[in-house]
Amino acid sequence: MKNKLLWFATIALLAACTPAKDSTEQKIDNLLSQMTLEEKIGQMNQLNGMGLSDDLTGQIRAGQVGSILNEVNVDVVNELQRIAVEESRLGIPLIIARDVIHGFKTIFPIPLGQAATWNPAVVEAGARVAAEESAASGIRWTFSPMIDVSRDPRWGRIAESYGEDTYLSAVMGAATVKGYQTDNLANPTAIAACAKHFCGYGVSESGKDYNTTWIPEVQLRDVYLPPFKAVADAGCATFMCSFNDINGVPSTGNAWLNKDILRDEWNYDGMLVTDWGSMEQMIPHGFCSDLKHAAEVAANAGVDMDMMSYGYTQYLKTLVEEGKVKEADIDNAVRNILRLKFRLGLFENPYTAKVENPYYRPESLEKAKQAAIESAVLLKNDKQTLPLKDVRTVALVGPLADAGVDQVGTWCFDAEPEHCVTPAQAFRNLEQFNVIVEPGLTYSRDNSQQGIQKAVAAARRADAIVCCVGEEAILSGEAKCRADISLPGAQTELIRQLKATGKPLVLAVMAGRPLTIGEETEMADAVLYHFHAGTMAGPALAELITGQAVPSGKLPVTIPKMVGQVPVYYAHKNTGRPASNITMIDDIPVAAPQFSIGSTSYHLDAGSQPLFPFGYGLSYTTFAYANPVLSDTVLTRNGKITVSCEIRNTGSYDAYETVQLYTRDLVASLCQPVRLLKGFQKVHIKAGQTATVSFELTADDLAFCHSDMRSYAEPGDFQVWIAADSQQGIPATFTLR
Ligand code: BGC
Repeated sequence: MKNKLLWFATIALLAACTPAKDSTEQKIDNLLSQMTLEEKIGQMNQLNGMGLSDDLTGQIRAGQVGSILNEVNVDVVNELQRIAVEESRLGIPLIIARDVIHGFKTIFPIPLGQAATWNPAVVEAGARVAAEESAASGIRWTFSPMIDVSRDPRWGRIAESYGEDTYLSAVMGAATVKGYQTDNLANPTAIAACAKHFCGYGVSESGKDYNTTWIPEVQLRDVYLPPFKAVADAGCATFMCSFNDINGVPSTGNAWLNKDILRDEWNYDGMLVTDWGSMEQMIPHGFCSDLKHAAEVAANAGVDMDMMSYGYTQYLKTLVEEGKVKEADIDNAVRNILRLKFRLGLFENPYTAKVENPYYRPESLEKAKQAAIESAVLLKNDKQTLPLKDVRTVALVGPLADAGVDQVGTWCFDAEPEHCVTPAQAFRNLEQFNVIVEPGLTYSRDNSQQGIQKAVAAARRADAIVCCVGEEAILSGEAKCRADISLPGAQTELIRQLKATGKPLVLAVMAGRPLTIGEETEMADAVLYHFHAGTMAGPALAELITGQAVPSGKLPVTIPKMVGQVPVYYAHKNTGRPASNITMIDDIPVAAPQFSIGSTSYHLDAGSQPLFPFGYGLSYTTFAYANPVLSDTVLTRNGKITVSCEIRNTGSYDAYETVQLYTRDLVASLCQPVRLLKGFQKVHIKAGQTATVSFELTADDLAFCHSDMRSYAEPGDFQVWIAADSQQGIPATFTLR
């Protein structure tokens, strides 16, 4: 009897100690236990949409497909789903995926432009609209946000990024995830986000797409991984492998990245998909001998789903039979996939209900316009040229003045240019002035001179010129890299001739990347820079030009003077010879003797500064920053200090200002950047009023990765700035003890 009691007590104790599996995990285990190996491998397969082709429907019926990308016809989606749910043996629903990078139908600014808003609420709202519109078409998974820290404007995909800074990318990435997913993925308008590209893709050598990267682990952990960690913590449902290799290992075959870091360090329980064909691409990388080898390497590196390499469907079963891949690892991959499907509520609600007028809702267009307004960065405004005043006639010129297809920007397959409101359309609706529209060049690469004279003639008849220049959408984005990042075609010549009219000249730049526009900026009276601003770019520009709206965007990325400065970013190291005593190339005497003593780090032809630094952006008003004030000059390891600053609106417009917090670790066991962004706040300050903006700092904010790969702050002296951009401000100092 006594033994029996002891036995019961032991069982009860064991039961109490074993963590209860939540019901989703139980459901997953239950389903998994009924699946054949072939059905498991089927879940790991993602195929491109092929309508209702017999080939595809047959594979779905046989349980050979887990997900489909690029099917946007809701009736087809529902029929494919019906076949999966009703006609496959286990009735596991599909996930339908699509690139919805900055909008589905209503297009928001490209992500680089969204980052220029420095307003996570605007970014979240954009993702919400994108989710609502795409979910209405049956899409429940998008491959966004792209949080590759991007410091090379030659790289076309900088357009899809949130720019050069780790912290800003992390904040904007998390806001995007929240907008797509809401707090509950099972909400029928929620779509699963996908953090991409894991990892280091933005470092592709020479800004050439798909290129190799060499990234020391310390730098990977300090600069490139934190945005991914931030979105994983924000609940981002999926991750995507990057195309590039890091230090010789392609991400799709990188067990250290995908298992040790993602799963073991970060405890990530979402799903990991390859990029399009990136499993197969391990062959030309020279990392795998054939597709079978690539499937083995990817499976053993913890990659759950194969997008379009057909490696898993063809070889995984044999690889298991040969003992090269463990079935337990396949079970783990399938668990991650099923978990996503359960979280999306697809088992309960596999079908997409008809939604009334899901696209281009007035409130969505209004949000897109607001995002476009906030994303515009005023780079120059001599003699307060903007907003235009006392102007009766405006000449609206330039190849992007009436180019809906280009203003939407890269990689938005579902955009309908006819729904775009171009600057030409928006300006014609203005009552403030008459508009003469004369593009001068038909597209950005147009080299013909014929139209230029017409544009100049229009400019002569006007009181001011607004010239829309930049890049067509097709010149940025995937595989659209440029070694010369100046204005293409005859645009500079157009600007020169417009300048010669002597009329006030406003440049409205619309581009997918920072462009080297030094000469053009010099010629213009005002420059408003838009990273392709989407459906509502025209009305946004009209409101900004007329002063109905005040620019508040700030650069999320440095604009170089010359492409040869690249990489040029604010968070650089100081070097042993920081730039000073700069002698420019034309100031060197002929036959000058060679010397190096006293020389410093800069280019003879570009100096040390970019054209415009990270964080820069003007307003129609002006702001005066007082010196930062610290609550204490000593920060203890577990304590915090408050840094505050008074900012006065010294101009005559009520306006938003993005107030930026930077720190610098003055002496460290690994050299640290000259400044690092640690926080920002976008505050509205009325003309003549003063706002006090405060930030808290703790030791964790000052941590960096050490050679033993542990991240912590070192005691010592720090500088801190509260400033209008990455180059302004007077630092205060404090000591970490
Ligand atoms: C891109 C991904 C994208 C995928 C699916 C690839 O070429 O690199 O970013 O999500 O295609 O369209």
